[in-house]
Amino acid sequence: MKKTTIPEKILKEIIALAQTSQSTGAIRKYSATITKDGIVAIDNGIEGWMNGEDLLWLLNTAKEMDHIVEVGSWKGRSTYALLSGCKGTVYAIDHFLGSATERESYQAEVKTRDIYKDFMKNVGSFKNLQVLKMDNAEAVKQFEDNSIDMVFIDAGHTYEEVLNDIKQWLPKVKKIICGHDLDNEQVEKAVREIFSNKFEISKGDIWIKRIC
Ligand SMILES: C[S@@+](CC[C@H](N)C(=O)[O-])C[C@H]1O[C@@H](n2cnc3c(N)ncnc32)[C@H](O)[C@@H]1O
Repeated sequence: MKKTTIPEKILKEIIALAQTSQSTGAIRKYSATITKDGIVAIDNGIEGWMNGEDLLWLLNTAKEMDHIVEVGSWKGRSTYALLSGCKGTVYAIDHFLGSATERESYQAEVKTRDIYKDFMKNVGSFKNLQVLKMDNAEAVKQFEDNSIDMVFIDAGHTYEEVLNDIKQWLPKVKKIICGHDLDNEQVEKAVREIFSNKFEISKGDIWIKRIC
């Protein structure tokens, strides 16, 4: 893996910044992200829940993919990494209304902000972006089976939602299906059940199932 060479003084400043990442309500606002290997990961200051390890994995994996579907984009933190890595189209699927069981907690901002507007401001200039502003159940119908290299799932986090999302998207995938928040009990239960414990875990918090 190629490391970014950064002068020690700047690196110290970045580490200090990363350590001041605030926890504002339930939303972690990373002001800078840094991995255990000392690599500064791109996030372009976009708020969200992905840490540096997660973003770096998405960026590097996206470089090997011709097209990617992301289910759950919010303000575009993970989308930015995928768009930066992938040479082909990244389809971002989100109704931008917040997840059904998280609108009152982690994603309460939907009540006072236009999250879609934030998303477009953050990543709308990428030429390889295709936004499907709709419910995931609608969007999935637009894709042929075995037509997408990679699907990244980060929408609802209940056991039922994750199980359903994986079941819906699995037939569409050629290379990798993966998702965020394996540290969430319900996510883990769904992933373990569907893949019979045969999946990988990134250095961050992403579960990964390679199809080929
Ligand atoms: C945890 S956030 C995604 C975070 C994002 N990946 C990041 O890096 O910050 C979950 C997103 O999924 C969207 N979502 C949840 N259920 C959905 C559904 N059934 N259809 C479309 N979008 C959905 C929500 O609107 C929300 O923006």
